[in-house]
Amino acid sequence: MAAGRAPFLKTRYGGYFHRDIPEEDAELTHVGAGTPCGEYLRRFWQPVCFSDELKDLPLRLKIMGEDLVAFRDKSGAAGLLELHCPHRGTSLEFGLIGDKGIRCCYHGWLFDVDGTILETPGEPADSTLKDRLFHGAYPIHEFNGIVFAYMGPPELKPPFPVYDTFNRPGYRMIPGRKYCFPANWLQIHENTMDPVHTAFLHTIVSGAVFTEEFGVLPELEYVETPIGMVYVGTRRISDNLWTRMVEVVLPNLQQVAPIWETGREERAFSGPMMSRWAVPLDDTNTMLIEFRHVCETDEVTTPAWWADRNIMLPGQLAADTYEEGQLHPGDYEAQVSQRPIAIHGLEHLGETDRGISIFRNQVRRGIRAVAQGHDPMGLYRNGTGVIPTYCNNTVVCIPPAETAALDKELMRQTGRRLAQSYLREPPLLADC
Ligand code: FES
Ligand SMILES: [Fe+2]
Repeated sequence: MAAGRAPFLKTRYGGYFHRDIPEEDAELTHVGAGTPCGEYLRRFWQPVCFSDELKDLPLRLKIMGEDLVAFRDKSGAAGLLELHCPHRGTSLEFGLIGDKGIRCCYHGWLFDVDGTILETPGEPADSTLKDRLFHGAYPIHEFNGIVFAYMGPPELKPPFPVYDTFNRPGYRMIPGRKYCFPANWLQIHENTMDPVHTAFLHTIVSGAVFTEEFGVLPELEYVETPIGMVYVGTRRISDNLWTRMVEVVLPNLQQVAPIWETGREERAFSGPMMSRWAVPLDDTNTMLIEFRHVCETDEVTTPAWWADRNIMLPGQLAADTYEEGQLHPGDYEAQVSQRPIAIHGLEHLGETDRGISIFRNQVRRGIRAVAQGHDPMGLYRNGTGVIPTYCNNTVVCIPPAETAALDKELMRQTGRRLAQSYLREPPLLADC
């Protein structure tokens, strides 16, 4: 494998000159312990599973390349421990859940949720081994049905972040689904900043997966926020301008504005339909795990199917057959086929990829901040503060300008103006 960039082919039938595959951008994509990106991601609380998955049996997990076991003991305490027993390595996925802690099936060592070794049966009664040794454990925090873990340096553990979307009057936040894409986290997550694919993949290729109005290519802006960025896509729908802002909250949370919007009725700041994390299981597998926001006061705002956890968002699973995937590719086919780790040195980014570039730069800055001993952007240490976020659909009545060119400018200005006003006064924060 060669490093760097592949040549910019300037000739027809040039495949022969284009066979070397550059290496992936390891700084942004490798997530194992001790890697720059792995350390960066470990500074943030990461979702690892749903609370209701912790039942009678231990749950084996892999998060950022680490083999782990999650469980809830019979007292109700939940824990996240290294998978392999510190005695002689048996996997705790075969452990016995006790009144307190989990017991290894091989020789019965018993571990509390914080890694304390409670018992070492078989060892002499006067053995002090269990008093001197701990098993590897990570702190967890359960919130609204999702189990989060902090896997970074203990002395740098931040408070669990509460965003303004997490507690909205009139809304219920429910755990949604989790699903896995066999590909690197960066390409899965950066798709959030790629609104052009919505107009092509989700509308022209697959038939309108969302509303028909998504097929209109928006006028695009990208705006950095104090916690990440939004794309601002503005479309003309008759006399209305529909501005849609979809959000990355660094490092790996995405908030998506409702996909059932048509832009035909005026609408104030809608907030997101979903808060979803892209959690690396390892370098080439990514779990998406979601909270859904369900409005309880207005049936029009949230369709009933969204409150039904059994119903998936379209396009997130592999098609049933290879041919079906070829005929109707979704996000899954598009993103997984970018290679297990997309190679940036083979890409040719255009104007519409500006959001991707800005996002990658934000991640790179965060990684380098951590490497230099600083807190990365997006990390909050104010434990009592609610953190403002910016995802929304907004529809305003602004009739078309005189020419198509002027109307495009009007769309961009409207989007920019809305984004700036939301940055000045985050609308959901007022309700918190
Ligand atoms: S290997 Fe777990 S108690 Fe012996
Ligand atoms: Fe998509």
